[in-house]
Amino acid sequence: MALLKHLLAASLLALTGCGGGSSPAASVPVAAVLPLVDISSVTLSDPGSSLPVNWQHGAFIEIFVRSYQDSDGNGKGDLRGLIQRLDYLQELGVKGIWLMPVSSSSDHDHGYAVTDYRGVESDYGNLADFDELLKQAHARGIGVIVDYVINHSSAQNPLFSNSRDAVGNAYRNWYIWQDPPPSGWSIYGGNPWRATGSGAYFAPFSDQMPDFNLLNSAVVDYHKSNLRFWLNRGVDGFRFDAVGNLVESGPSAWENQPRNYSLMGEMRSLLNGYAQRYMVCEAPTDPAGFAAASACGSAFAFNLQTSLLQAAKGQPSGVLALANYFKTASSNMATMFSNHDLFAGQRLWDQVGGNSAQYKLAAASYLLLPGTPFIYYGEEIGMSGATNISDDGRLRTPMSWTANTSNAGFSGATPYRALSGNVASQNVAAQAADPNSILAFYKAMLKLRNSLPSLAQGSYEQAWASGNLLGYQRLFAKERTLVLINYGDSAVTAAVASLPANAALSNAYPVNASDATADAAGLANITIAAQSLRVFSLR
Ligand code: BGC
Repeated sequence: MALLKHLLAASLLALTGCGGGSSPAASVPVAAVLPLVDISSVTLSDPGSSLPVNWQHGAFIEIFVRSYQDSDGNGKGDLRGLIQRLDYLQELGVKGIWLMPVSSSSDHDHGYAVTDYRGVESDYGNLADFDELLKQAHARGIGVIVDYVINHSSAQNPLFSNSRDAVGNAYRNWYIWQDPPPSGWSIYGGNPWRATGSGAYFAPFSDQMPDFNLLNSAVVDYHKSNLRFWLNRGVDGFRFDAVGNLVESGPSAWENQPRNYSLMGEMRSLLNGYAQRYMVCEAPTDPAGFAAASACGSAFAFNLQTSLLQAAKGQPSGVLALANYFKTASSNMATMFSNHDLFAGQRLWDQVGGNSAQYKLAAASYLLLPGTPFIYYGEEIGMSGATNISDDGRLRTPMSWTANTSNAGFSGATPYRALSGNVASQNVAAQAADPNSILAFYKAMLKLRNSLPSLAQGSYEQAWASGNLLGYQRLFAKERTLVLINYGDSAVTAAVASLPANAALSNAYPVNASDATADAAGLANITIAAQSLRVFSLR
């Protein structure tokens, strides 16, 4: 009760700041406001960062907390469980973690229906657990970014309860209402306008996820305060959800509107007020536009996955597309093979039919390129989807820590969701013992990225494709790396040109391979085994 009173008081105070809507707060009777969660204004108070400059060019891992590690025996993953696995992540070599939403949500699964932007999902723990996770991750040189759902909330969020409560409620204009609902709209195959007894609200993702009115400055201010709330705790940045959907201009202009970009630019500026923070946006239909410095500064490279798969399968068109990608794309693109959403594709294992040579080629292809690579949890051990789930849950199975086919080492209890189909063979325990495993390969690639600054943050030079061969150089200060990948099924001797004259090419991968030398014209003949790669360091 005391908490309720406190929150009510906070909400009433906040009303005076609600200036952006068309229903002025001052004209609204106080009694019309239902109890709210904390929406008070938060100002900048940067605890600083212990991460190195450009840390965001190390590899990230995307983690679904509910499926990572259960620490309290209820069959669901939690923050304390993740903390227990930080040593594994450090050893893997990742430099950042993207947590799918950890805020309180009403869906109690994927988390994108947020009920309190400043609270932690009760299944996962509490703010103290979250602070401990940050502390422990930072102690291992790993940054943590969290998913931020700016476009919509849960329909059960107290803000929406107010909005739908009455036309005169001070929060009515925090969401998008029309009465009568307009016609002619169709988004993702459905009508985004959801009828109620008093008008229709706009909710294209689901009737349980109403869109915020981001043209209301009070809503934007609220989101900015939420971001500061997490940044002030030491969070290293955000993955912004669905930024193509932020504002709408009409039934045929509901995506990627100009205000979307400038809004994200404002969020970027907010982060720039803090040390070493990073943000990345999800914008599947305009990755390049949102990666611009005036918008997010970084966005997922949704257009790259097809080329990764084609190249891994030995298709020259894919190899050529890979060679060309970073000739024009921003070096801030966030590369990946797949993620938690089916629209982005099945898990890598399923797409290559368990072919581990192709698997490793796809992985090497994005882990050594410019950008920020995002590994989807379990990808580093070849986890497949669940065999008996057909929706997104198929991709979000409990992490396969052991070969135990009842719980995968994920929980002492029965896991809340079916395990991956290949838990018996593709699990951490089995792979850690095998020097040729997918896990050993990911570790080797990340070791290269972490030990050669040119691979993490260098420029992209002299890229070429020839049939199934790809070659490029990465350059940072005086340090230069040569990467050669042979996607074909027979060994090839490549005549590599455009090297520094008489350069000594010191072997960096695979271990025990020989060094090479360029001639006075900058040419070197290098043999690359079938479906493999070679990496040389030129210092
Ligand atoms: C997320 C989905 C989510 C949707 C709505 C997407 O961008 O990746 O998992 O359901 O946004 O929040």
